[in-house]
Amino acid sequence: MNRCAKTEVPAELLKEQERYTQLAKAKVAEIYYGRTPKYHVHSYGCQLNVSDGEKLKGQLEAMGYVETGAVEDADFVIYNTCAVRENAEDRAFGNLGALKNQKRRRPSMLIAICGCMTQQQHNADRIKKSFPFVDIVFGTHAMYRLPEMVCSRLMGRGRVFETEENNCDIVEGMPVHRDSGFKAWLPIMYGCDNFCSYCIVPYVRGRERSRRPEEVVKEARQIVEGGYKEIMLLGQNVNSYGVGLEENINFSELLRRIDAIEGDYRIRFMTSHPKDCTRELIDTIAESKHVCHHIHLPVQCGSNRILKLMNRRYTVEKYIELIDYAREKIPDVTFTSDIIVGFPGETYEDFCLTLELLKRVRFNALYTFIYSKREGTVAAKMEDPIPYEDKSRWFRELLAVQEEIAESYYRNMVGKRVRVLPEELGKTEGTITGRDDGNNIVNIKAPESLIGSFVEVDIDTAFNWAVGGTVAE
Ligand code: SAH
Ligand code: SF4
Ligand code: F3S
Repeated sequence: MNRCAKTEVPAELLKEQERYTQLAKAKVAEIYYGRTPKYHVHSYGCQLNVSDGEKLKGQLEAMGYVETGAVEDADFVIYNTCAVRENAEDRAFGNLGALKNQKRRRPSMLIAICGCMTQQQHNADRIKKSFPFVDIVFGTHAMYRLPEMVCSRLMGRGRVFETEENNCDIVEGMPVHRDSGFKAWLPIMYGCDNFCSYCIVPYVRGRERSRRPEEVVKEARQIVEGGYKEIMLLGQNVNSYGVGLEENINFSELLRRIDAIEGDYRIRFMTSHPKDCTRELIDTIAESKHVCHHIHLPVQCGSNRILKLMNRRYTVEKYIELIDYAREKIPDVTFTSDIIVGFPGETYEDFCLTLELLKRVRFNALYTFIYSKREGTVAAKMEDPIPYEDKSRWFRELLAVQEEIAESYYRNMVGKRVRVLPEELGKTEGTITGRDDGNNIVNIKAPESLIGSFVEVDIDTAFNWAVGGTVAE
């Protein structure tokens, strides 16, 4: 049922959920009388999903649960799934299966599965049939109605299935539990209209819809005032931000408005689609105070023939033009990218064009994937004659080329001073690790107490996946 024509959930429906939250809270307190029940939320997939997961956590806390990192201690487990590649789905099903015994030992526990996978009918059906111990199954569009679904289940009304598509799901002011105290996700838009031929996201996330700029800027201000050091703006294609909004606004203008917020913080964003990445955006980054000089610009492959089959709607030449323009305007800009190896019909010659492109652009880092067939997409119907072993071999060849490029980049960083936001303890004792403004991983010989605040670091070592250094005097 489509509850509303617009994309933003009306206030009265949110109020309804607040009432359900109170009802669920009372019921939870009754069931777990004398102790505080624990939840465990695990999000697979992209940062947008992780950000959704933080809202699920916020809602569960409002219902009286507290977080546990250990799934085996949890009274409520939610798996927030990803459908982008087959292995993501396999992992989720595997983990879900492992909960069966836990539920047998602890019948009062709740198990929910949500996110992109459940938005596909065949997966929803499989969960219904083969995983009868799952209490609640809901799609990405129903997330804000978790309190209502929990109430229904706790009142003993049978298993809950809420997986229909509904583009009216932008929810402002939902409770959120941010996992980090210094890095904040900030979704600016949802869905995707691009229909790259290999990709399931447009089918599971629905049509592109943007949050109103005043809401985004308000949240950004709260984040900065809350002492966070990094804002990550999220969307499947941030460059088409604003389409469909009443106000005539594009992503560059949104960035300028956020950048105008005073404070000691930095802004990152992802993902930029090359077909919509404009010179205006590059100029905006160049002129900004807080936006990192790093662009994640997934190219996917270096062959125009394959790019066309992928429905990416840009050419290698156009892509390189963008890179060159950005390097001219922002001399220290860095690039990262996503690459798919073994798209249906890709030949070794096509693949070699990808290697050429990597050598031409010299990305700092790559996220590389072997093509995974997704039922329902256009590419799933294409002939795919190359055996998986060949694709794996190409994949390893690609990694070797990229490793050399990254290593030489890191060697050039030795002797430079960079600003880093340390995020966690390093692998070796006495070190912490984080990223510089160019998104490079930096290992620092420094105490744990510096995690979460900016430090200037003198780079003295190059590894093949990162650099190392010490805090500048
Ligand atoms: N919206 C982003 C990416 C979202 S998915 C963009 O357009 O760049 C993240 C990455 O997963 C994609 O960039 C692509 O490289 C990879 N991917 C998506 N579908 C895939 C598939 N069917 N097989 C392998 N990799 C895939
Ligand atoms: Fe998928 Fe393409 Fe949309 Fe990215 S832009 S989410 S790859 S369809
Ligand atoms: Fe996966 Fe859904 Fe993100 S399919 S990549 S979690 S939008």
